[in-house]
Amino acid sequence: MSNVGLLRLLQLQTKQRSMCNLTLCLLLFLTSSCSSLSTCPAQCLCESTVVNCESQNLTSVPQPLPENITTLNLNGNRILNLSNASFPRPLVHLTHLYVSGNQLQELDSMAFQNFSSLRLLDLSDNRILHFSIEALHQDNKIEVLNFSKSLRNHSYIGVLARLFHHSLPKVSRLDLSNNDLVFLPEGIFTGLSELSLLDLRNNSLVSFRNVTSQNKALKELDLRDNAFKALPNETLSELYSIPNLRVRLAGNPWRCDCDIEYLLFWLEKQDFVTDRLNLTCASPRELKHVQLVHLEHSQLPCWSDNVDELNRVLEPSYVFLGLVLALIGVIFLLVLYLNRKGIKRWMYNIRDACRDHMEGYHYRYEINSDPGLANLSPNSDV
Ligand SMILES: *[C@@H]1O[C@H](CO)[C@@H](O)[C@H](O)[C@H]1NC(C)=O
Ligand SMILES: *[C@@H]1O[C@H](CO)[C@@H](O)[C@H](O)[C@H]1NC(C)=O
Ligand SMILES: *[C@@H]1O[C@H](CO)[C@@H](O)[C@H](O)[C@H]1NC(C)=O
Ligand SMILES: *[C@@H]1O[C@H](CO)[C@@H](O)[C@H](O)[C@H]1NC(C)=O
Ligand SMILES: *[C@@H]1O[C@H](CO)[C@@H](O)[C@H](O)[C@H]1NC(C)=O
Ligand SMILES: *[C@@H]1O[C@H](CO)[C@@H](O)[C@H](O)[C@H]1NC(C)=O
Ligand SMILES: *[C@@H]1O[C@H](CO)[C@@H](O)[C@H](O)[C@H]1NC(C)=O
Ligand SMILES: *[C@@H]1O[C@H](CO)[C@@H](O)[C@H](O)[C@H]1NC(C)=O
Ligand SMILES: *[C@@H]1O[C@H](CO)[C@@H](O)[C@H](O)[C@H]1NC(C)=O
Ligand SMILES: *[C@@H]1O[C@H](CO)[C@@H](O)[C@H](O)[C@H]1NC(C)=O
Ligand SMILES: *[C@@H]1O[C@H](CO)[C@@H](O)[C@H](O)[C@H]1NC(C)=O
Repeated sequence: MSNVGLLRLLQLQTKQRSMCNLTLCLLLFLTSSCSSLSTCPAQCLCESTVVNCESQNLTSVPQPLPENITTLNLNGNRILNLSNASFPRPLVHLTHLYVSGNQLQELDSMAFQNFSSLRLLDLSDNRILHFSIEALHQDNKIEVLNFSKSLRNHSYIGVLARLFHHSLPKVSRLDLSNNDLVFLPEGIFTGLSELSLLDLRNNSLVSFRNVTSQNKALKELDLRDNAFKALPNETLSELYSIPNLRVRLAGNPWRCDCDIEYLLFWLEKQDFVTDRLNLTCASPRELKHVQLVHLEHSQLPCWSDNVDELNRVLEPSYVFLGLVLALIGVIFLLVLYLNRKGIKRWMYNIRDACRDHMEGYHYRYEINSDPGLANLSPNSDV
């Protein structure tokens, strides 16, 4: 009897257990599907570990993000700033973060602090005014950093210089194109020892001295569409000293005079300036659009022409001097004319004085020529 009772009890227990298992499974299923629903934000598309929230008019980073994402695309939204509140959960697997084409102005301290695996950070096409040096993880592994057309203000490069010095040890591709940069602080890229590509296209640079001399890993340097008129020999030999460096220089307003001779010398080196055929003179007018590689040294307007130019500059001043002298002459004549009575009187006085004098002389002459005294003259043969 008790055996039957025991059996019943066991059956009941197994039933209960299986039911329990079922509810547990249901619960598990619900929560897992629920959590997977909640981890892909409404405005985004999630595919495996890639989260795409492009062009959704987002004003802040959608929350919460799946914990194990590797790529987050926030391009084309309206995010104004990123702070420690933007990514509250650590995203330790995130390697690619795209925030291009937003209106980013501020990147506060700790904004990217929890991204220990970040490799690519695209901040292009924004209006950055403030980038905290503490925004990035201390030992970040960022390799690709895109600041193309992202600085609101070209003076901000001074602040970025500090960022480059202290917080970006692994960067190998750095894009600073389209930022209207006018100058680069000396040694700005010194901290980026692994830098291999540096894009400075379409800025307003006029000189490039001691900027990349420490970056021995540099392979590609894009200086197209800047404001260089000439590059001094020091700059060119500094660049040439970096082994296997390829430089691009087209689209600059080269001034083809004596100073361009250094560049012509370096253009003869094969594989140094890769777009050497695309370099053309912007001035002087006679040489406009002439390819630099086809310039003859005799064509370059140099010192002799500079002397001509000096004369051309001086010519107007000679004319001026002539005018002044003429004016002085006219004034002199005018004074003479106005004073003509006084002058007449003065001339009469002189004439009278002369006449008196002459008369006196004549008188003496007459005395001298007196025949009674003539024999006193030893030369007289009268
Ligand atoms: C974003 O905003 C613009 C205009 O404000 C609107 O035309 C567009 O449909 C919006 N896009 C989305 C995805 O909401
Ligand atoms: C990421 O999470 C999904 C489910 O949310 C899981 O299937 C995948 O294995 C996770 N990947 C990693 C690398 O942890
Ligand atoms: C960041 O932007 C949000 C609006 O998008 C604003 O409420 C917040 O005050 C801003 N934070 C800072 C530090 O400027
Ligand atoms: C975020 O920064 C603010 C001040 O900028 C600070 O008060 C707050 O504690 C920080 N939060 C975290 C989670 O670090
Ligand atoms: C980083 O993640 C930790 C949790 O691991 C969190 O406590 C901290 O607030 C996060 N920091 C930031 C700046 O988001
Ligand atoms: C930086 O972003 C721009 C577009 O925003 C893109 O054209 C360029 O290729 C990017 N640079 C790098 C080095 O990825
Ligand atoms: C440009 O940036 C510099 C340095 O950050 C700042 O002092 C200056 O006020 C900024 N100018 C404008 C017009 O924002
Ligand atoms: C060059 O840079 C300026 C910003 O400094 C930008 O407005 C312009 O569109 C850029 N030009 C090209 C051809 O990308
Ligand atoms: C170039 O800059 C480095 C530091 O950035 C400095 O040590 C070096 O003396 C400079 N060289 C010249 C020729 O100015
Ligand atoms: C330019 O520099 C190179 C290498 O440093 C040197 O060989 C050459 O003589 C220099 N040219 C002039 C004109 O100083
Ligand atoms: C020279 O310019 C032409 C047209 O602008 C372009 O197609 C070509 O790729 C350039 N050559 C180099 C070596 O950059």
